[in-house]
Amino acid sequence: MKPIHIGLLGIGTVGGGTYTVLKRNREEIARRAGREIIVTMIADKDLEKARALADSNVIVTGNAHEITTNPDIDIVVELIGGQTIAKDLILEALAHGKHVVTANKALLANHGTEIFAAARAKGVIIAFEAAVAGGIPIIKALREGLTANRITWIAGIINGTSNFILSEMREKGLSFEQVLAEAQKLGYAEADPTYDIEGIDAAHKITLMSAIAFGIPVQFSKVYTEGITKLTGEDIRYAEQLGYRIKLLGITKRVEKGIELRVHPTLIPVRRLIANVEGVMNAIVVKGDAVGATLYYGAGAGAEPTASSVIADLVDVTRLHTADPMYRVPPLSFQPDLLSDTPV
Ligand code: NDP
Ligand code: HSE
Repeated sequence: MKPIHIGLLGIGTVGGGTYTVLKRNREEIARRAGREIIVTMIADKDLEKARALADSNVIVTGNAHEITTNPDIDIVVELIGGQTIAKDLILEALAHGKHVVTANKALLANHGTEIFAAARAKGVIIAFEAAVAGGIPIIKALREGLTANRITWIAGIINGTSNFILSEMREKGLSFEQVLAEAQKLGYAEADPTYDIEGIDAAHKITLMSAIAFGIPVQFSKVYTEGITKLTGEDIRYAEQLGYRIKLLGITKRVEKGIELRVHPTLIPVRRLIANVEGVMNAIVVKGDAVGATLYYGAGAGAEPTASSVIADLVDVTRLHTADPMYRVPPLSFQPDLLSDTPV
């Protein structure tokens, strides 16, 4: 069967991880997708970096529009980040009838309504598993595994960088600045790390989960957002002495007047599972009326964990074009109109 041709926009931390894992696990991925998934083109500002990673048969370009408008590309994977160029490129790819996979939560939390509408108008998919909680398949869980439930609340550690900072400060007595620099070196932090430490990144993610769980519009501006920058080593030590850990939580829940959305540091008793989630790990608890509380745990950032989610989306989108009913997934599970315009 004809392979699926991918155009990769951005070959940084996540783009590099995606290319590497696609290549390493090529056979397994092809078997599960029902056909081969091949990176045909890569766009990056740094051509040398891209050429050093890519095989010689991959076309490397500095002009991402050559990918988004290319009739031979089936799926565009946006891993540039940011809300300007990335938005133009995604809209261009959708307008050219291409499916898009992205990890860009900032873009979707702010411009999701427009982007989902553009995908819907063209009858193509925009998939974004990697945008929330790195390697944890939480979007799939919310859309598919928990679909029978009326979700009552979601709460979780959904920013790896800030959890890494809080953990290292507590365990090793390191300074905030030292650990943030380490998180940047490890590729966990956003291009602008204030997004991580001021709770903005977690707010982007809770916005997306809330929209899916409750069927409300994507409304990032409604999230109460407080980060970890005001916390000191002393706060962390005092909390410990009292039997608590401080965790930056994203929370969304049904309340009498509608849906609550908030991100802030929270004192959690040490005996709770979520208090013991350390380092770059994320954990999310979702409560549904039928299933009760469910817990999802895994690496919340980093090259290969995030690539795992990007590739899961690639495989799912590829399966839409696969005849074998064993692998075909119902297109409905992706449709952006699951994000209804009607607030609950
Ligand atoms: P990086 O900065 O590591 O990678 C981005 C890449 O895109 C860089 O190589 C950059 O080149 C390149 N780039 C920038 N502008 C352009 C352009 N106009 N055309 C072509 N290439 C361009 O970022 P990450 O990989 O960390 O993040 C990518 C996305 O994934 C972001 O949306 C982020 O929020 C999201 N994400 C990141 C996670 C992580 O753990 N890092 C986890 C989950 C999601 P240059 O370096 O030269 O500027
Ligand atoms: N900067 C983000 C984090 C990347 O630290 O969680 C994953 O979304």
